[in-house]
Amino acid sequence: MKHKNITAMVADLNPDRPVVCLRPAELVAAAQELTSMFPGDVLYAVKCNPLPGVLRALYRGGVRHFDTASLNEVELIRGMFGAKSTPYFNHPIKARSAIKKAHEEHGVRHYVVDTEAELDKIEQVVGSDAIISVRLATAPGIALQHMSSKFGATPTEGARLVRLAKNRGYEVGVAFHVGSQCKDPDDYYRAVKLAAQVRDAAGTELDILNVGGGFPAPYIGDDVPPLQDYVGTVVKAVEDFDFQNSVLQCEPGRALAVDGCSILTQVHLRKDRTLYINDGIFGTLGELVYLKLRVKLRAHRKGGQPIPGPMGDFTLYGPTCDPVDVMPGVWQLPEGIQEGDWVEIGQIGAYSAAITTTFNGFSTDIVSEVDEPAYWNETEEPVRIRATA
Ligand SMILES: Cc1ncc(COP(=O)(O)O)c(C=O)c1O
Repeated sequence: MKHKNITAMVADLNPDRPVVCLRPAELVAAAQELTSMFPGDVLYAVKCNPLPGVLRALYRGGVRHFDTASLNEVELIRGMFGAKSTPYFNHPIKARSAIKKAHEEHGVRHYVVDTEAELDKIEQVVGSDAIISVRLATAPGIALQHMSSKFGATPTEGARLVRLAKNRGYEVGVAFHVGSQCKDPDDYYRAVKLAAQVRDAAGTELDILNVGGGFPAPYIGDDVPPLQDYVGTVVKAVEDFDFQNSVLQCEPGRALAVDGCSILTQVHLRKDRTLYINDGIFGTLGELVYLKLRVKLRAHRKGGQPIPGPMGDFTLYGPTCDPVDVMPGVWQLPEGIQEGDWVEIGQIGAYSAAITTTFNGFSTDIVSEVDEPAYWNETEEPVRIRATA
């Protein structure tokens, strides 16, 4: 399904279920920007948003490498792009059956490990036909989501694993993830320095340096540096720590996908200053709650007419019977908003659309492509979620 803009979509569908509004042009542009700026391979983290329309647009923008965390993701990528794509099995913990099928049926050669047990598993399942990256834990920075609490070897263990994998005859690299929505480019500098210490302790050159994901999205109130600063910092670190001979990789999700989708929700009831909309934290809005993100939103009325009144503060409840299904903080929307109007919530392309549930029988499975940009008319009064205290 395709529409020129949201107004046309509302006129056509009059949707009383949430609609994911996919913006391929934004995704193509984001992919083109990063693949032309980053002096290495850009691996899109499929987990971030595996909608086929998202993957197709990123591919059109130049992405050919994909970080896959499961056999299903490997199959999705191979099924869509065949031999023109390279899936990397970069989850540090994998089922033997998944490794076997990924290798035998889909030719996957790249695997990440952070333990000797996982390295043994790969050796036992695929033999010598593999390229191993050792995932290192990094210190928590000011990213919104720290990843190294769950994954990553210490520097000493990382160096031991690098040596072990080299001694077993593999090409070996290191990988890390500084944390999602990383707000400080210097976190990458420190992490590359750590990778160099591990390399030196292992006493061997590294075939791959994977600087992971974490590049941030410009959510409201998150005053993050531009992407160029992150790439520039990585480039400087590569030079300073002599990684010029390693294949450089990054593994972003959020920065590529964030503007690729908004969600169009409908107001099903207004009770004073509370709006009950048809999507919530069990649908596409969970990520906004977990990470306390603030994003743009705007209201629509059928026919594209303006909704009367100045802006006012509203509480937004999702559709389920569960009282936790409420968006944090207050949201500013036109005072005249009423049942049947729509609230479009922007910047939900990363994770949000990927982690929806069907709790209580509600689902978010209608997708329509729209041609208009993700950042609607900037001259409009910006409509914002205000932070809670
Ligand atoms: C191994 C790995 N790589 C890359 C990513 C993408 O991270 P981001 O969306 O912060 O760029 C993730 C996110 O969970 C991850 O787990």
